[in-house]
Amino acid sequence: MKISIASDHAGFEQKEALADYLAKQGHEVVDRGPDSDDRVDYPDFAALVAHDVADGAAEWGVLVCGTGIGMAVAANKIHGIRAVNCINVQFAQLAREHNNANVVTLSGRFVELEENERILDAFLSTEFGGGRHAGRVEKIMALEN
Ligand code: RB5
Repeated sequence: MKISIASDHAGFEQKEALADYLAKQGHEVVDRGPDSDDRVDYPDFAALVAHDVADGAAEWGVLVCGTGIGMAVAANKIHGIRAVNCINVQFAQLAREHNNANVVTLSGRFVELEENERILDAFLSTEFGGGRHAGRVEKIMALEN
């Protein structure tokens, strides 16, 4: 799968490791930066990944900041994006199954790398449940208009 990934300085170290992790699984990874842990503003990088997903240049987006919260707030400003901050595997499964999330945001400061790897595994392998959830997601997307 084609996955666009980025971080801010607080998520940089895990972003690098998670990009490698995904590439080793055979995914096509587009690293949207940054290239160092110099201080940056997370909305700039959230926008790059969110546009990749919204425009169809990538199927999925992964964003890492200190908490994952700012990245989710920023990415959700882009039309077509359903970004969810996932702090454990169950959140990732439910974000896909119930919310049809297309961007996962992760905490580089409060969640260990190995748990974030498990979160990514769950996010990328869980299908949207459809059914009663489909109408709710449609209502979310209608809020953009
Ligand atoms: C940066 O200090 C921090 O605010 C950022 O990484 C993120 O946690 C914001 O939500």
